[in-house]
Amino acid sequence: MSNILIGVSGGIAAYKIPILCRKFIQAGDSVKVILTENAAKFVTPLTLETLTKNRVYLDDFLTDISPRDIEHIDLAEWADIFIIAPATANTIAKMACGIADNLLTSTYLAYKTEKPLFICPAMNTNMYQNPATVDNLNKIAQRGVNIISPIEGELACKDVGIGKMQEPEIIFEAVKDKLSACNVLNGLKVIVTAGPTIEDIDPVRYISNRSSGKMGYAIAEMAKKMGADVTLISGPSNLKTSLNVTKVKSAINMLNVLKQKVEDCDILIMAAAVADYRVENISDIKIKKSSNELHLKLIKNPDILFELSKVKREGQVFVGFAAESNDLEENAVLKLKMKNLDMIVANDIKREDIAFDSDYNEVIVFNKKGSKLTIKKDKKEVIAEKILKEIKAYING
Ligand code: C5P
Repeated sequence: MSNILIGVSGGIAAYKIPILCRKFIQAGDSVKVILTENAAKFVTPLTLETLTKNRVYLDDFLTDISPRDIEHIDLAEWADIFIIAPATANTIAKMACGIADNLLTSTYLAYKTEKPLFICPAMNTNMYQNPATVDNLNKIAQRGVNIISPIEGELACKDVGIGKMQEPEIIFEAVKDKLSACNVLNGLKVIVTAGPTIEDIDPVRYISNRSSGKMGYAIAEMAKKMGADVTLISGPSNLKTSLNVTKVKSAINMLNVLKQKVEDCDILIMAAAVADYRVENISDIKIKKSSNELHLKLIKNPDILFELSKVKREGQVFVGFAAESNDLEENAVLKLKMKNLDMIVANDIKREDIAFDSDYNEVIVFNKKGSKLTIKKDKKEVIAEKILKEIKAYING
């Protein structure tokens, strides 16, 4: 049973909110509702109070002089889950900018970012597709807000197009599904490596691999959302994250850090693009470009996964990545065996629409029991969630 806070902004779809409230109440949840001034013109407080058996919260909180609690703070603390439905273009824009000029948006700002928040946009197609709205939605999605996208249909303005709020039954299911996924990794310690490693040539130059770190960071962040205790170990990357990151530089650095931490983890996910070779003699001073040729002797780096597999405990799960330009499946399955892994995630680096530096990926996950799962092209967050669910299914047997 959860405390569900529903914030309603002023769109015609507000008339469907009593049905959404009922779904949660029937499931045993407690529901409180905030109405913006405009929302209160579409759906009456009395209907919602009768259904929820709770007071409905209106925008009189700034002017009402009766001694009340500090409502936006109390509501933000009370809620386990916050759903803003319908979310108008105006409310979405305020969320993107952090404007808190009514009870709904003030509560949004006071609501802890780690707690689940869903928004159900509803508006005219042109408003939904306006670059300002698109940017605002991207901004809040990057901050971890779950967006339950609108659907196509006949809109209040009689246009037919995208912008209709999802049906309450679908919103209810989407919220419940997401929340059950939230606890999937509870109690598990997960180490994720991400980004490239860099191997110095001299104080200025280095050898590295193409890797933005986006896939690894997405996995680490998603694992955290799914309840895991996450350690992110990253090679050089400009990506921002709210997770604590242990930064490393070379493959040897990464191996040394992992040797200290790996014993304690349940799952190791090596998404890092580790350099296979390093320069044997790193120059202390910048090498001058005096001659026409420069000869570097490269020596092989240790294979981190292989080294760690020697100290792998019973029950630990090790997952590797295989970025391949040819014979994707054969190479991935070979690496699964050679590196003594439980699972390998293969992706095709020749495709320009996915992988390197892209926000999208498409992968095939093989496990050592012989299963194969293709995860079709999607945002890296979605791919991350599916990979983690597959790992959990493997652990569950
Ligand atoms: O052999 P290859 O580099 O293609 O293998 C990729 C997988 O092995 C990735 O999971 C990567 O993080 C890991 N790896 C490693 N140590 C290396 C090179 C790659 O653990 N030296």
